[in-house]
Amino acid sequence: MGINYLNAVPTKHAKLVSWVEEWAELMTPDAVYWADGSKEEYDRLSQELVDCGLATRLNPEKRPNSLLFRSDPSDVARVESRTYIASENEADAGPLNNWIDPVELKKIMKAKYAGCMKGRTMYVIPFSMGPVGSDIAKIGFEITDSAYVVINKHIMARVTPKVYDVLGADGEFIPCVHSVGKPLAEGESDNGQWPCAPVEEKYICHFPETREIWSFGSGYGGNALLGKKCLALRIASVQARDEGWMAEHMLILKLTSPEGEVKHITGAFPSACGKTNLAMLIPTIPGWKVETVGDDIAWMKFGKDGRLYGINPEAGFFGVAPGTSMDSNPNAMHSCAKDTIFTNVALTEDGDVWWEGIGYDAPGKLIDWKGNEWDPATAEAPAAHPNARFAAKASNCPSIADNWEDPAGVPIDAFLFGGRRPSTIPLVNEAFDWTHGTFMGSAAGSEITAAALDLKAGTVRRDPMAMRPFIGYHVADFLNHWLKIGKTEGAKLPKIFFTNWFRKSPEGKFIWPGFGDNSRVLEWVFKRCDDAVEAVETPIGKLPKKEDINIEGLDLTDADMDALLAVDAEGWKKELAAIKETYESYGEKTPQELIDQIAALEKRLG
Ligand code: GTP
Ligand code: SPV
Ligand code: MN
Repeated sequence: MGINYLNAVPTKHAKLVSWVEEWAELMTPDAVYWADGSKEEYDRLSQELVDCGLATRLNPEKRPNSLLFRSDPSDVARVESRTYIASENEADAGPLNNWIDPVELKKIMKAKYAGCMKGRTMYVIPFSMGPVGSDIAKIGFEITDSAYVVINKHIMARVTPKVYDVLGADGEFIPCVHSVGKPLAEGESDNGQWPCAPVEEKYICHFPETREIWSFGSGYGGNALLGKKCLALRIASVQARDEGWMAEHMLILKLTSPEGEVKHITGAFPSACGKTNLAMLIPTIPGWKVETVGDDIAWMKFGKDGRLYGINPEAGFFGVAPGTSMDSNPNAMHSCAKDTIFTNVALTEDGDVWWEGIGYDAPGKLIDWKGNEWDPATAEAPAAHPNARFAAKASNCPSIADNWEDPAGVPIDAFLFGGRRPSTIPLVNEAFDWTHGTFMGSAAGSEITAAALDLKAGTVRRDPMAMRPFIGYHVADFLNHWLKIGKTEGAKLPKIFFTNWFRKSPEGKFIWPGFGDNSRVLEWVFKRCDDAVEAVETPIGKLPKKEDINIEGLDLTDADMDALLAVDAEGWKKELAAIKETYESYGEKTPQELIDQIAALEKRLG
């Protein structure tokens, strides 16, 4: 069968070309197009999406070069229940992943993929995760029938023909296959409706041994932009385990002190728990500066000096819109001031966007994320979906660090863990050592947010290293990998801290002001890295002395600080019970070293 190529095949990489041909034959698109990441391509596809009613062009005077999409209500976030780690052995996927035998899953998927691109164009997207040619970067190719995915990837990854030079005739790439799962009949069009398949037909599949990603039925975010969670975390975490490096759900920030000294700090917080905000923070304490290296994913490898060097594999931010305002995160607001793709936010009468928590009242009637009229006076449901997002270029972010694209990565001084915890967990707590820090991270818990479609928001679930939905293998092996990293010969490891911006008062209010004021905690972390300030050794870890957290200008009482820095022995005993139960659920591969940490903590608590 002949393939209708819309443009010339840009590579002599035989495996790549035959991979594309095989999928085209199965999926039977009307045409195949090799994307190049150019502005011309972006503009052309954007216009096509506007013309067919899937996108709204925003008012260029308010939001230059920006689009709004409304997705299907069944397709608004990652779907963890439809996400699979299809390792050859079930035991390798572990208790936190859904598993199907890879042979069986491929059979199911091929039946779904057969003819699935009828009436559509198949786009082939060349991309690099990380600066093109960096030792830490990886090349991927995504096949998709969604022009929305193509333009989002222009922002979120490095889509460029330069990857063909790196690839040569037989270089390695990670093959990613995506279809929205909605073939069109003769003469049918999407008619302005976001194409996708029903939830129970969505599949986000990972084959860790063969490093393949097959996604079907969703057009949204991490389900469809396959370089992000699927490649940069689920597949990369397997590669990192095999090769002795780390692929983590972490922001990376560059922190400069008033004296001009620099440290790089990462933060692993679960989805919708503040990574983007911390990465772009504007300090409220004089003289300190935070710059952004990445807001979601870090790939870290040991350098010759024994330090971990991290890159941000992405090129843009897929940020949560609700709650983002000039008050809470001005750098994010500037990042999405132009050249941005919004999904599931509300539309104003003058062609701009609006969402809950944007910092001002809705300017009159809106069109909500479902496409219905929304009147602020009578509305019962939010105008923007709680997981509405903006895809904005990192290069448009005013706080982007000058070294954010350094192919060698930036040297990491400290790791932060965190989560949304209304009680027990203090504002900041330094680990005694790497093993204790690994224990802390492994025990992280957080209230569930709207970032996953199929989970009940509000209840606490354990989210080890904020990687629960993103580890491409057995969680106990992942914890073992962390311990192994800590034993790497000659390693000069980052210090590990646990933070909690979300502690609540008995009245249910956040005690800590958060956002820019988190710089006050960063200052303490910075000083601890240099041993420039003493910490108090407590049963749970090393806490700051109250006077060492600068709260000048804050409306916090002494009692508030006591609450934020308390060792709540009763709360920790409950915490211990929950950690024990969690470790038991991880099975017999759970590292003994970590199990020992439970007993040690129990003993210290008395
Ligand atoms: P993902 O993109 O899903 O990985 O999320 P994220 O970890 O980047 O979270 P983000 O920074 O987008 O924040 C999510 C939500 O948490 C937003 O509604 C923020 O306003 C809120 N948030 C972030 N930082 C803080 C903080 O320090 N305090 C409080 N109270 N809320 C915060
Ligand atoms: C997350 O859920 O952690 C995200 C959004 O960053 S998505 O890319 O959809 O996974
Ligand atoms: Mn994330």
